[in-house]
Amino acid sequence: MGNSNFARISHDYYPTPSWMTYGVLDLFIDKQGLDNPIRFDSDWWEPACGEGHICDVLKPVIRGKEYATDLIYRGYGKGGCDFLKQKEAPAGVEMIWTNPPYGDLAEKFVAHALDLMKPVNGSVIMLMRNEYDCSKKRMKLFRNHPAYYGKAVSTTRPRWIEGSTGSPRHNYAWYLWDWRCQNQEPRIFYFNKQ
Ligand SMILES: C[S@@+](CC[C@H](N)C(=O)[O-])C[C@H]1O[C@@H](n2cnc3c(N)ncnc32)[C@H](O)[C@@H]1O
Repeated sequence: MGNSNFARISHDYYPTPSWMTYGVLDLFIDKQGLDNPIRFDSDWWEPACGEGHICDVLKPVIRGKEYATDLIYRGYGKGGCDFLKQKEAPAGVEMIWTNPPYGDLAEKFVAHALDLMKPVNGSVIMLMRNEYDCSKKRMKLFRNHPAYYGKAVSTTRPRWIEGSTGSPRHNYAWYLWDWRCQNQEPRIFYFNKQ
């Protein structure tokens, strides 16, 4: 991803390095009360789970039930499930967490996840480029969205293709939304690879 010479991999399959998920979990794990976009006690859904790289980190920490699906079966969860065609979240799910496919699809994933979580006052956590929110057209999802909570920026650039050489070029952030904490000023957090 950091190197434009790489051909784009089919269905944008770039698994999330585990330290990225640990990084954002660490920011919120000791935070008490309702002002917390990570629902440590709720059922949760990884709707583009790939081989389960995010799930493997979340499962021991989030006490609710896991739902893991993907358009393509990659040996984890349930395949053949187009997230954008799902009319509702599984009953009990109060958090949708993924690293979505890129480009326009990412925007559709965010908007759809927010629609699905609205009726349950749930939260949405998605990994995108750090500058993803620097777009006038996307302000409806960020500054102008009532559930936008903020972002957790990784100060280490992830390497998307294991074993690749050269310096990764792009910064990434976890974007956070929570219907339980509406109309707040967005907050910014930072973490780095441990
Ligand atoms: C960037 S990869 C991330 C995989 C996994 N979330 C992770 O973080 O390791 C994006 C994933 O989105 C899946 N995907 C693409 N379009 C999809 C869709 N419409 N519905 C569900 N999954 C989709 C791909 O198959 C791929 O596994």
